[in-house]
Amino acid sequence: MMPARMYDLTAMRAPVEQPVICRDLVSTQDFSPEETKSLFELTHIIKHRPADFRGALAGKQLVLFFEKASLRTRLTFEAGMASLGGTSLFMDQTRSLLGEREPVCDIARNVERWVDAVVLRTYSHKTIVEMARHTCIPVINALSDSEHPCQAFADFFTLEEKFGDLSKVHLAYIGDGNNVAHSLMLAAAALGTSISVATPEGYAPGPEMTAAAKRIARTTGAIIDITHDAVKAVTGANAIYTDVWASMGQEAEAAERAKIFAPYQVNDKLFSYAAPHAVFMHCLPAHRGEEVTASVIDSPRSIVFDQAENRMHIQKAILLLLLGSGMRTAPTRSNHA
Ligand code: CP
Ligand code: NVA
Repeated sequence: MMPARMYDLTAMRAPVEQPVICRDLVSTQDFSPEETKSLFELTHIIKHRPADFRGALAGKQLVLFFEKASLRTRLTFEAGMASLGGTSLFMDQTRSLLGEREPVCDIARNVERWVDAVVLRTYSHKTIVEMARHTCIPVINALSDSEHPCQAFADFFTLEEKFGDLSKVHLAYIGDGNNVAHSLMLAAAALGTSISVATPEGYAPGPEMTAAAKRIARTTGAIIDITHDAVKAVTGANAIYTDVWASMGQEAEAAERAKIFAPYQVNDKLFSYAAPHAVFMHCLPAHRGEEVTASVIDSPRSIVFDQAENRMHIQKAILLLLLGSGMRTAPTRSNHA
């Protein structure tokens, strides 16, 4: 059996003269295009040779602070950490948001004394930025109102498994231009993939996210297309992706959103415009009869459970890179300034 330390993580390492700097995954942009490709290479090895990494994070401890419900994210982090030999501690913040009982900066300076990394699922993205700014241990975004980087990396890893060369893939995202869409755009940009994002008017991705994705795309050849025309977005696409119309925290807007988003439902008619072997993707949880019909999500073209499975493999690689000394370079851009 080959020990994990023998795998080549050189793409993630800085020259020896650089100081060791704590790295975070607050935004999808925190991993450069080269680092994202290295992440996928490591994920592939971990997925296919999990036994080689059994003790890779032995003695390391991870704390998860979640302000919102979760099935996949919590379980994949906990199961993934356990399979690497580490330990997870879950902090349920659904009844008391981070920062209410004491300032986030104080929580940050406590947890670094006890554990090795922090995973956060929050309403406000600023809470995660604040945590990362004030702690010297890695901070991982497990969903905020602004981004879902672990999801996007798992999704593009899944697309690479299905289609190979991601520069030849066209992903169409149909629905709300918020957290999942933002991270998909940024990951597509890093990986040189074409992405079309179709939303109702007033629900387009944030302009700063679109600008960041387009800036990265100029260096990788990715195409970032933002539109309100769902048919145009899916025409010829290799994959169609959607997410809930009302995200966690937007429950009061659900009825109003159901009317606004109805023309953006992913159904058989919309799917008929995609490429012949197009796949369906969803981060889950899904609402059949709302953003997607059962005929689409329960069909053989649906790869939603492959996406869910890959959440664990990609997060194991992220943990290994951030906690296992695989990533010592300075970030390409700072989210914590
Ligand atoms: N996709 C996703 O993050 O699922 P959970 O909300 O169940 O964690
Ligand atoms: N946009 C959804 C994603 C859930 C994984 C939400 O924020 O609730």
